[in-house]
Parts: sequence; structure tokens; C-alpha cells
Amino acid sequence: MKSAISLTAALVFFTIFSGRAFSQMGPDIQALLDSYKKSAGVSEFSAAEGKKFFNSRRVHSVNKEERSCSACHTVDPTKQGKTPVGKVIEPMAPSVNKERFTDPKKVEKWFKRNCEYVLERECTPREKGDFITYMFSI
Ligand code: HEC
Repeated sequence: MKSAISLTAALVFFTIFSGRAFSQMGPDIQALLDSYKKSAGVSEFSAAEGKKFFNSRRVHSVNKEERSCSACHTVDPTKQGKTPVGKVIEPMAPSVNKERFTDPKKVEKWFKRNCEYVLERECTPREKGDFITYMFSI
């Protein structure tokens, strides 16, 4: 009897937990990630690589200024960030900001703009996939 109860409890927990993890990424973003996988020729993305990418700093070739994703989005994606002119950026982590990574057009638009700003080129599908995977792991 006791073990039947704990088995039921375990099942309930599992259902709640997996249901939550599942609802975090919408079908549009799942499809976007799948297309990145195809272009990058990989079957999985790495949250650890995404974290490294998010925090790595690069010196801009023209104005010699150090730039990184985390400079604006902060090293803790659950916190609010700030642009160089002081405009508040809401947290990047979807666990605290439900609006994040819901619209593939918005995601692509900002990747393009911010990757150019930090890397002076577009991000590769792998970089984008690792980045999103990192954000959903937080
Ligand atoms: C100069 C400041 C700045 C830097 C540096 C920056 N971002 Fe952003 N980012 C923004 C702003 C501003 C927005 C749009 C406002 C918002 O969505 O809150 C944004 C939004 C985004 C979004 C849209 C997410 C969504 O679905 O809402 C993505 C993706 C993103 N940034 C990725 C990156 C990546 C990757 C890097 C590093 C290569 C980076 N950003 C560096 C300022 C920055």
C-alpha cells in the first residue's frame, strides 16, 4: 500500500514537472530550433556553450570597446538588463519572463541586430541554438 502511494506520488510529480518543462517552449520556437539544428548539422544544442557565448567579451574592431551579450542582458538572465543609454531590458530567461522566445520573427530580428553589434557578423545557427537552449535551462 505504502509503495503504491509513493508510486502514485512519483507519477503525479513527474507529470507536473514534465508538463511544465514542456509548456515552456512553444511549437514555433521548437520549429525554429529544429531549423537551426538542420543548418548546423547537429542533433543537440549545449546550454553550457550557450552560457559561454552569452558571457564572452569581444573588442569591437572600430571603436575598441568591449562588447558582450551579458553587458546589456546582465550575467544573470533572470534579472533586468540595461542598454548603454540606460533603457531597461526585461529579463531574458523564459522562466521569469513568459514573453521571451515566443515569436520567431522577434527572436531573429534581435539576433541579427545584437550579433552584428557584438560580433560584427550574424550569429551562426549553432550559436543561436546554444543561446536559446541556455535560456530555457535557467
Ligand atoms: C546593446 C545592448 C544589447 C546587447 C549587447 C545585446 N542585446 Fe539582445 N536585446 C537588446 C534589446 C534592447 C532587446 C529588445 C528589447 C526586449 O526584448 O526587451 C534585445 C532582445 C534580444 C532577443 C529577443 C528575445 C525575445 O524573444 O524576446 C534576443 C534573442 C537577443 N536579444 C539576443 C542577444 C544576443 C545573442 C546577444 C549577444 C550576441 C545580445 N542579445 C546582446 C539589447 C542588447
